[in-house]
Amino acid sequence: MAPPLRTIGVVGTGCIGASVCVDYVIHGFRVIAVDTDQTALDDTRRLLRETNRFLPAVRPGLDRLPAATADERLVTTTELTALADCEFVVENISERWEAKRDLYRALDKILPAGTGIGVNTSSIPVGLLAAETTRPERVVGIHFMNPSYLKDAVEVMRGAATSDACLAYVQEMLGRLGKQSVVVGDFPGFVSNRISHLFFNEAIRTVQDQGERPEVVDDIFKKCFGHTMGPLETADLIGLDTVLLTLEYLHDSYRDDRYQACSLLREMVAAGRLGRKSGRGFYEHRGTAAADTTRNAR
Ligand SMILES: NC(=O)c1ccc[n+]([C@@H]2O[C@H](COP(=O)([O-])OP(=O)(O)OC[C@H]3O[C@@H](n4cnc5c(N)ncnc54)[C@H](O)[C@@H]3O)[C@@H](O)[C@H]2O)c1
Repeated sequence: MAPPLRTIGVVGTGCIGASVCVDYVIHGFRVIAVDTDQTALDDTRRLLRETNRFLPAVRPGLDRLPAATADERLVTTTELTALADCEFVVENISERWEAKRDLYRALDKILPAGTGIGVNTSSIPVGLLAAETTRPERVVGIHFMNPSYLKDAVEVMRGAATSDACLAYVQEMLGRLGKQSVVVGDFPGFVSNRISHLFFNEAIRTVQDQGERPEVVDDIFKKCFGHTMGPLETADLIGLDTVLLTLEYLHDSYRDDRYQACSLLREMVAAGRLGRKSGRGFYEHRGTAAADTTRNAR
């Protein structure tokens, strides 16, 4: 008899969390996905179905799962207590300190003492969240890139208390997703976003102050620098609300005005122009979530 599937809990199934759920399912895990918003859970199931339908094209080497199998492997719920039996939980809720802090306190009460937690955050140090639990040695940062199921590497943040065993467990698990772990230190924004959010902000300022068109700014990165995506396309993919929250956290943490979010970004978020997730950001976004995300992230 085949061994039971390994079960991973995923809390927060928004822009990145949905793609993390899909990544685990297509790589043979069972996922219990929790979100306070039923629409986000429904969208996650839709993303799984669409991704699975095109799986050999999306992720060469992986075979499409029978539709019923893919559906069965994803359990969606609004109840946090459903995570009690997971071997590991990945947290991807909104980038707000108070919300994450309260969730870690709640998770700590629900999860068995041996269960580890992966913090998927753009900027908040892992050690701060680990300190809200009674298991800091089992808390580790996993900064998944978006969309997770298309990416071959992950930024792994080792908190001061993260144990060798926890780090080794996470590297093994990420290996099963076909991902290499790049281990970095635990400081606001880590390596990726400490740097990238400076050029996102500056790219937006170039549109705001110089009147340059988004396509032109992105073309410089793509055609001249050889990047797969430009900074404004990437910001649209991440979600401009998350980019703004991340810049605000970095600004507060480093007290460095280089991270002060420019007014155009604030205006766009206030107007609900959040990028791909709302259908409009620096670009118009149409089409199905999976097809769109996949096409644009290649
Ligand atoms: N967007 C990206 O590309 C990206 C990449 C890597 C990491 N991150 C990080 O991942 C996290 C999520 O980012 P996002 O862009 O997906 O945000 P999002 O706003 O798109 O999604 C957040 C989701 O969390 C849910 N949520 C909020 N509070 C909750 C709670 N207490 N319990 C359960 N669900 C809750 C919301 O309903 C929403 O569906 C953030 O910390 C962000 O910095 C984002």
